[in-house]
Amino acid sequence: MNGEIPYALTFDDVLLLPRRSSLKSRKEANTQTQFTKKIVLNIPLVSSPMDTVTEDKMAITIARKGGIGVIHRYIPIEKQIEMVKRVKRAENIVIDEPYRISPDERISVAKEMMEKYGVSGLMVVRGGELVGIITHRDIQFETDSRRVYEVMTPKKRLITAKPNISIDEAKDILRQHKIEKLPLVDDSGKLVGLITAIDIIKREMYPEAARDRKGRLLVAAAVGVREGYLKRVKELLEVDVDAIVIDVAHGHMDLVINAIKQIKRIYGDIEVVGGNVATPEGVEDLASAGADSVRVGIGPGSICTTRIVTGVGVPQLTAIMKCYEKAKAMDIPLIADGGIRFPGDVVKALAAGASTIMIGRLFAGTDESPGSIILRNGRRYKIYRGMASFYARLGKEEAEREMLELDDITDYAFTAEGVEAFVEYRGSVEEVVNRLISGLRAGMSYLGAKTISELRRNAMFIRISDAGWRESLPHDIEME
Ligand code: IMP
Repeated sequence: MNGEIPYALTFDDVLLLPRRSSLKSRKEANTQTQFTKKIVLNIPLVSSPMDTVTEDKMAITIARKGGIGVIHRYIPIEKQIEMVKRVKRAENIVIDEPYRISPDERISVAKEMMEKYGVSGLMVVRGGELVGIITHRDIQFETDSRRVYEVMTPKKRLITAKPNISIDEAKDILRQHKIEKLPLVDDSGKLVGLITAIDIIKREMYPEAARDRKGRLLVAAAVGVREGYLKRVKELLEVDVDAIVIDVAHGHMDLVINAIKQIKRIYGDIEVVGGNVATPEGVEDLASAGADSVRVGIGPGSICTTRIVTGVGVPQLTAIMKCYEKAKAMDIPLIADGGIRFPGDVVKALAAGASTIMIGRLFAGTDESPGSIILRNGRRYKIYRGMASFYARLGKEEAEREMLELDDITDYAFTAEGVEAFVEYRGSVEEVVNRLISGLRAGMSYLGAKTISELRRNAMFIRISDAGWRESLPHDIEME
């Protein structure tokens, strides 16, 4: 046991000093940052791998805004894979493998496929060769038993293009012919890709989106460290996930260190996020094992009871600052995970050394989070729950096996370290992101920082008293 007990602080205990600024407008503040050693984001926001926060819909919107979503792991592998695929296809300028159907299939099958994959059309292919296209409009009023070839637009009436066409040329063709889908066909007539009008429009709508080299949205996925996790990793890599997040409550564990080493040894190239830790020793061990970024946060989460139940944790601002000393020396980015209540907390966490911020509660309760809206006393809510809460453990598919993978629990004796809660419905997550990012830009401007690293360099924290905090909040007025 240590002799003197160090003092630790969190966001509400501090403020940042304003600094002389050369920024002429807040727009000059560049929010680009590292999610991992290799992955760059345009905004420093990451959505939590929780079953009431991040599935494909959330991941798509967050990536369009410039951040990244981590698809949770409390579902069977196939479902997680399907979600990653949906994100990867959401804004794919050139779809390498468009969904295909045989001309001899029944229309009912085409309908099912369109529904299942959420697409409005299928490429009709025989032996790899494009023979037509079937779209929603073709089958809307048709009887299910008819065959695809009877209602499709046949190849002779289709406009197609060569595989190496540029986006601008494709745009011209789509505009000229007033069509929405442009199949790419090689010299032998084989279907090798598809460009759709909607993807081009979306790309122009979200110029800040976080994309991979092929122009697809970025997405990460969570895995555990128990039996079977390598199979999950392998399948996730097959669908081009951009990063694997080892999602364990106590990340400073031999099991996690070994899992990082294993994944890096077998798959080398893939970016791996380790965590969660709250000490520099934790950062050092995970970084030495090969992690490409480390998640910091033991107990700050809004639905978290770890500190109360176990007596363990570190107030988040001190955790980030201490971990950053090591992370800086080892040149590895940190993800500050949990406890963000106000836009100013994002600024404080980045100033303290984090490169990105992971968010649960503020993103739950939006249109993009899983789950439906619940009416209570005339107000609208959604459910948000800790992944180590009792019902999260009970409620999901594969409860027996997958749930127990959650962390260091090896039998059914389970102590909850999280709670279930209602969070107020907030509309689209885009609005939440906009508020956080405009707070960040303003904060950067107060500190004279054009970049996130300048923000860190210019940051000077002061500790404040309870009276100082009360003065910081709106006070002595009647709020509406
Ligand atoms: P929030 O943004 O304050 O709601 O915190 C979200 C973070 O809480 C997540 O990213 C997780 O790291 C953490 N978390 C999720 N579920 C639990 C739990 O059941 N117990 C403790 N922490 C949790």
